[in-house]
Amino acid sequence: MKNIAVIGGGTMGAGIAQLAAVHGSTVHLVDVNRDVLDRSVLEIKKRVDRLVEKGKLKAEDRDTTLARIHAHESISELSDVDLAIEAVVENIAVKHKVFTELEESVSESAILATNTSSLSVGAIAESVRVRSRVIGMHFFNPAPLMPLVEIIAGNESDDRAIDAAFNIAQSWGKTPVRAQDTPGFIVNRVARGFYLEALRLLGEGVAGIDEIDSVMRNAAGFRMGPFQLMDLVGLDVNLAVSTSVWTQMDKHVRFTPHEIQKNLVAEGHLGRKTGQGFYLYDRESPIPAYQPERKSFELSPLTNDAMLAFCSRLGDGDIGSTEQYIVSRILAAIINEAGSAFSAGVASSDDIDLAMIKGTNYPKGPLAWADEIGHRTVRGLLKALNEAVGDNRYAPAPVFAEAS
Ligand code: NAI
Repeated sequence: MKNIAVIGGGTMGAGIAQLAAVHGSTVHLVDVNRDVLDRSVLEIKKRVDRLVEKGKLKAEDRDTTLARIHAHESISELSDVDLAIEAVVENIAVKHKVFTELEESVSESAILATNTSSLSVGAIAESVRVRSRVIGMHFFNPAPLMPLVEIIAGNESDDRAIDAAFNIAQSWGKTPVRAQDTPGFIVNRVARGFYLEALRLLGEGVAGIDEIDSVMRNAAGFRMGPFQLMDLVGLDVNLAVSTSVWTQMDKHVRFTPHEIQKNLVAEGHLGRKTGQGFYLYDRESPIPAYQPERKSFELSPLTNDAMLAFCSRLGDGDIGSTEQYIVSRILAAIINEAGSAFSAGVASSDDIDLAMIKGTNYPKGPLAWADEIGHRTVRGLLKALNEAVGDNRYAPAPVFAEAS
């Protein structure tokens, strides 16, 4: 595929345009805002220069790479494209307008992809006549660097369009995975457990922000703790994803956005970008923005035994009980969500694991973790945790319902 259109020249569109151009495609970048377009082309230029400085692109390829990028203010200027990737604002009405215009302008054989992170691909496709060529290509930010691309099949998407998108993502050096058109696809669904369970532990006064982060790094092997990561992503962006998945999942209690996060967002504490989120960034080493009132927690003998069994399988048999409680609750939530996505047919177990490793830097795929720990042990912990809450939050996913 040589001719690519990218619609929307913001954060994601500029990144995807750069990626495609560096890998030899001709790119038509469209944005309704001329200033955005000029800024994006300038930014791409700077980033391509940096690639040359770092030796990741040959100096003689710099000008040809940049010459492959063409800026347009209107979709009507496009005609001969093989693949159009839409990356405009996350608003279904705007996306419908873009897809209608694309259908009028580009050839009938072109694949039409959306980079939406929270809308349904099938719903976006409703604005076009030939829906079989509409698919999702969900890149992660920053698109030139993050390896994962979720290739999403809408309810009417054609296998050939899916395969072609998979192949082009691979040819751009990416790791594509296939997923069904369900809320949050793979990553934005499975990762909810990491954030929301950490917020619940904080809200319950089990431990402080930095303690939870350090336990998840040191005892579970995550590169960053959940609060560090929320501060990096932006609390507002993270909350918007949680709210969207929760709403689309019929407001299931396991996805309920947390009051602590909602309050921080309302106060304008959005993380690193505002200098304060869960941590304060006005000093050399960030410190937690607040300490919760610590409350002692009591576990039933059943939960305690289940937690010990789970942690000893993880190799965390000798860390303290608070640490074990943190690791087991957060990991159980992630593993159960991965199991739930698998049981619902969102993706294969290999693709779910690959997506979590490549899309969020998890140290291990959650389903491989479950296999290592043993489904019987995972199920034992989930059942014990579920009995303690009474709202079915930890009900084992069907894949864990039978001991294996
Ligand atoms: P952005 O706000 O940086 O850029 C959106 C661009 O679309 C703006 O430059 C705007 O002028 C342009 N635009 C609006 N209407 C248009 C139209 N009718 N025709 C052409 N251009 C139009 O947004 P961002 O962050 O790049 O997100 C774009 C899409 O990518 C959204 O669907 C978002 O959910 C998704 N996404 C965002 C990620 C992120 O981390 N920012 C990650 C993965 C997906």
